[in-house]
Amino acid sequence: MFTDLKPLPADPILGLSVLFQADTNPRKVDLGVGIYKDDAGATPIMGSIRSAYAALAESEASKAYVSPMGWPGYTEACMKMVLGEQFAASNSDQLAAIQTPGGCGALRLGFDLVAASNPATTVWVSDPTWANHVPIITAAGLPSKQYGYYDGESGLVDIDAMLNSLKEAKAGDVVLLHACCHNPTGADLSSHGWQKAIELMLEKGLFPFIDMAYHGFATGLEDDVQEVRSAFAAIPELLLSYSCSKNFGLYRERAGALIAKGASDTASPALATNMAKIARQSYSMPPAHGAALVTTVLNNPVLRSAWEAELASMRSRIITLRRGLDSALTTLGAAGRLGNIANQNGMFSLLNLNPEQVLHLQKECAIYMPGNGRINIAGLTADNIPYVAESLNALLN
Ligand code: LMR
Repeated sequence: MFTDLKPLPADPILGLSVLFQADTNPRKVDLGVGIYKDDAGATPIMGSIRSAYAALAESEASKAYVSPMGWPGYTEACMKMVLGEQFAASNSDQLAAIQTPGGCGALRLGFDLVAASNPATTVWVSDPTWANHVPIITAAGLPSKQYGYYDGESGLVDIDAMLNSLKEAKAGDVVLLHACCHNPTGADLSSHGWQKAIELMLEKGLFPFIDMAYHGFATGLEDDVQEVRSAFAAIPELLLSYSCSKNFGLYRERAGALIAKGASDTASPALATNMAKIARQSYSMPPAHGAALVTTVLNNPVLRSAWEAELASMRSRIITLRRGLDSALTTLGAAGRLGNIANQNGMFSLLNLNPEQVLHLQKECAIYMPGNGRINIAGLTADNIPYVAESLNALLN
């Protein structure tokens, strides 16, 4: 059975943590896996989550199975937050949502649902996209193609390239979009870009699948959902994968959701039961704990406002670090050559580095990032910014 299996290379993102931990260089800097860190390099449990944890320890009466749809009230709370209470209520016949094991689980379940509904679909992904998107799409049995997205010269989105490539898509094809804080570039579609993309998808009958893993990390919880809401209002059928890993700091708890909108009046039960069937066939039901914490936070006004304040402070710390790196690089005369760090959003920026340069930084400077040159801004600190900037500048000269 297994004799022909060969060991595989490490995951291009997750594998970096192992290398980083083994590195004994005292100056080492981890700009690899997309995880929030404080000034001490730690990823603390949020205070609001700790309070919810304490409350749950008192109130949770059983560890019996939950349904394949997940923790009661969780997807409703997520849907209200993402789509708005009014939209969620007035479109309840068309909407369905299922709790998933993280955002990754939502992507996989969503693509399984697409493959079951229309196996002839091609999935269009941005060039570049998150390193795990295409593997998930392929594992669901769907082919993928790239659409133009990132302009390496400006460090911004090339909307004309995006629209031109999507003109080649055929009706029913899926377009995978990043809601905000594009991974790996940090370059987000403008409002105008979203409008143009929505118009084209409507005109050609394309099906958006929006990946939302960094809600609250671009401009704010409300601002970050505006374009998503426009897409849900305008387009009859679409999917959205949601992750609570980053914005609730619940990485290891695997709290995610898949939200679907169908066109017919009976879409909701059809979508929900088909999603539940896929969940049952793959893992039965999602882990409860993380979703229970999120539900507790979102439904308790005191915890919710504490969480919003904590998230705002994470966002503002990342923005300060982003500006700090940009300014250090500008002082050295290197900023323009590396990308457009100052004008990108969220945890990531894509540096104009080739894999050899990335490896050189790893081996010679103990600065870790994936081979495509993506940096996790949250891995910077006021202390390590000068070292990172000087190492990058030295690499260019
Ligand atoms: C990342 O992109 O670094 C994160 O989403 C973690 C992961 O699973 O790759």
